[in-house]
Parts: sequence; C-alpha cells; structure tokens
Amino acid sequence: MKLLRDKVMAEGIVLGDNVLKVDSFLNHQMDPVLMREVGGEFARRFAEEGVTKVLTIESSGIAPAIMTSLELGVPMIFARKHKSLTLRDDILVEKVYSFTKQETNEITVSKKFLHPEDRVLIIDDFLANGEAAFGLARIVEQVGASVVGIGIVIEKSFQPGASRLQEAGYRVDSLVRIASLENGAVSFVEEL
Ligand code: G4P
Repeated sequence: MKLLRDKVMAEGIVLGDNVLKVDSFLNHQMDPVLMREVGGEFARRFAEEGVTKVLTIESSGIAPAIMTSLELGVPMIFARKHKSLTLRDDILVEKVYSFTKQETNEITVSKKFLHPEDRVLIIDDFLANGEAAFGLARIVEQVGASVVGIGIVIEKSFQPGASRLQEAGYRVDSLVRIASLENGAVSFVEEL
C-alpha cells in the first residue's frame, strides 16, 4: 500500500536493528485519514470472506480494526490485556508471550461476543513474532469459530511471525512488509 509505505519512509524512526517507531501516526498520535484508507484496503482484500466480526488487541490495533469493521459493516471486538472491572465471568482467556517485552500477558474476550458461526478477521498494527496473532486465533478457536485471515498494518518480514502463521494455515495479508531495519534504514520487501 503506497500511501502507507510513503508514511513509513517520511515519519518512521528506526531504533536499533529491529524496531520501527511510528508513534506519529499509529502507536501514539493516530492519523485518522490514513486509518480510514487502511480500513478500506483490508475490507477490499477480505471482501469475499464473509467476515462477521473483526478482532484485535488493545491498544494500537483498535484504530485500524474499527476502520476495517466500519467498511465491512460488522462489529469490532478488542481483546483486553488488563482485567476489566466489569469483565468477570464467562471470559475466554489466552496467554501471550511478548519477546519484545519479555513478559506474558493474559488476554481476554467476553464469551458474549464470539459464537461458533462467526467468521473472524484478525487485525493488528505490527507483526513481529506472531504471538499476539496466535493468541487471538486461539481465542476464536476456543469457541469453535473460524479465523478467515489476519490483516497486518506493518509486517516485519525479517522476524518469524508471518511464516509461522502461514505454516499454521492462516492467510496473512500485510499492507507493508519490511525486509530490514539494519543500519538505521527501512527497506521493504519487493512487491511482485
Ligand atoms: P508479536 O505479537 O508479533 O510476537 O510481537 P511482540 O510480542 O514482539 O511485540 C510486542 C508489542 O510490540 C506489540 O505491541 C507489538 O505491536 C509491538 N511491536 C513489535 N515490533 C514493533 C516495532 O518494530 N515497532 C513498534 N512500534 N511496535 C512493535 P503492544 O505492546 O501490544 O503495544 P500497543 O498495541 O499497546 O501499542
């Protein structure tokens, strides 16, 4: 997606050899016009999948996910990383380990909002090792619903998440794919 590539080139800041800081449009300040385009692009890519719910994880997944769900005309659910005061019983829980942060979070979704007949599109802002996406997929599968695909805003293709998810049988569709962040420079995977 050219618009997003241009934004990454203009505003992304490389930290070390493997972290891309994009807090001016995705991770802190958010660009609503860009997010609307992102939502439209995911909706086009997954238009034939009969999506009934969009699922993400708080917090930075929420903006691209809500724009996608708006375009598809279906509800969006975000998994919580912290226990909600009001979310007590009847919850689906999965453990998600973050290699970046070296900590395990329990992510939760209320059973009320996912049903066996649901066809779920998972959306997230970044894909690194894939742990968050696998955790979300396990939540969907706990209730017997289907994961129709995983839409990612920025994939770091030099980390194993995308190939692990594809090997597990999931369709992964990323709007930009980064081949390397070495020496402070962003290089993209060549698109065919
Ligand atoms: P994984 O789910 O693919 O295994 O990723 P990992 O645990 O390594 O990443 C943990 C957090 O760091 C996630 O956000 C993920 O989106 C984010 N992240 C990973 N690589 C990058 C990167 O290069 N740049 C940026 N900006 N973020 C990255 P989170 O902690 O859940 O944050 P938030 O959604 O609450 O903002």
